[in-house]
Amino acid sequence: MMNVKVDPNSLDSIETASIDEIRALQLSRMKFSIKHAYNNVSAYRVLCDEKGVHPSDLKTLDDLKIFPFTTKQYLRDAYPFNSFAVPMSDVVRIHASSGTTGQPTVVGYTQHDINVWADVVARSIRAAGGRSSDKVHISYGYGLFTGGMGAHYGAERLGCAVIPMSGGQTEKQVQLMRDFDPDVIMVTPSYMLNLMDEMDRQGLDPKEMALRVGIFGAEPWTGEMRKNIEGRLGIDAVDIYGLSEVMGPGVAQECAETKDGPTIWEDHFYPEIIDPATGEVLPDGEYGELVFTSLTKEALPVIRYRTRDLTRLLPGTARPMRRMDKITGRSDDMLIIRGVNVFPTQIEEQILKVKALAPHYEIVVDKNGNLDTVQVKVELTPEAQHTDQAPVIKELQHHIKSVIGISTKIDVVPVGGLPRSEGKAKRVFDNRPKG
Ligand code: DLL
Repeated sequence: MMNVKVDPNSLDSIETASIDEIRALQLSRMKFSIKHAYNNVSAYRVLCDEKGVHPSDLKTLDDLKIFPFTTKQYLRDAYPFNSFAVPMSDVVRIHASSGTTGQPTVVGYTQHDINVWADVVARSIRAAGGRSSDKVHISYGYGLFTGGMGAHYGAERLGCAVIPMSGGQTEKQVQLMRDFDPDVIMVTPSYMLNLMDEMDRQGLDPKEMALRVGIFGAEPWTGEMRKNIEGRLGIDAVDIYGLSEVMGPGVAQECAETKDGPTIWEDHFYPEIIDPATGEVLPDGEYGELVFTSLTKEALPVIRYRTRDLTRLLPGTARPMRRMDKITGRSDDMLIIRGVNVFPTQIEEQILKVKALAPHYEIVVDKNGNLDTVQVKVELTPEAQHTDQAPVIKELQHHIKSVIGISTKIDVVPVGGLPRSEGKAKRVFDNRPKG
């Protein structure tokens, strides 16, 4: 589908296409993508051959389910470049995922991949309410992480004035925000909390700034956190989703007019939801693990890549393409506390329901004999710092017990007592012996 546009602020033609047009485009692109991976990545060819499937077996979109999954381990085994489907002479950029555990996963891009990425991020910023005349302050980290440069190229593609701040230097960030007065900020929600505290410290009233739109992602955040940030900043806070292996930020973007979960840019990324235990494909609407097949990527095609992110697919609203619900968490973030499955986002939701509490928290899990124990560290808001802690603790314990079903020890630490994030927050410390 040709996309000839003069006005960068108008929608791409695919954003108003019919479902039939989208499905037809996906099928032709999926045939290309699977063939491309099979013909050019020997590790992928081996996976298909072992399963006895061949790219020519894909006749309909539904046939995708006969193809093997790929995983982070598949990419790790190919470290550094064996998952690339083009010669290095065609690769123009390399990023790597944060790799908190083990080897990082390396991802590569051709010039065409970079162009597509910039297009979908430009589309994302526009869907978030950004316009070509806007100044965009980018606090996602620049470097091997895809956040900074992914956001940067997209904002530039839309025609915005980009402020490539990166993460860190919090005091200076806020100083520059005061001086440059950006319209849009792109940052992790946890670093936004840190920036808001710094604004308070510098006596800057965010509501007097031009800031209109916040595009937050790279980590889970709840609807309660959205309310908190929107209330304090007086902006629209919307969710951007992505992962390095599939491309980076901009795989999906929440539209400002509906704020009902990110729309997946299905012309480039084909989603499935599977049962993480059995691998069975689940119907739209059911919760499970999100799996992506890239449809246009050249350097690193991924077919049925298991993200480990848990969510569900929902019908399109602001756009015809399907949405994903807010990510509850990754399957590896799930804590099992005395037999109860708990996601950190569920605890975040309960903390933010308590008016006297700030949105900063840490969850510490330990083992006492045979019993799992959970300690939640929280801070009072500066306004509430002199109030009696006992009823606040009781209220939070009650919310967590009645909604999630676990008993917790709540520790209120002094205002500013918890470490602040400069990127992706680390909030969970599971000290239980492994295995
Ligand atoms: O975090 C890419 C990105 C950068 C997305 C900036 C959005 C904004 P990775 O470092 O590879 O890439 O981490 C990807 O982060 O599998 C999710 O678990 C999590 N994640 C990303 N966006 C969201 C989101 C980038 N909006 C991993 N909500 C993914 C929840 C998110 N989790």
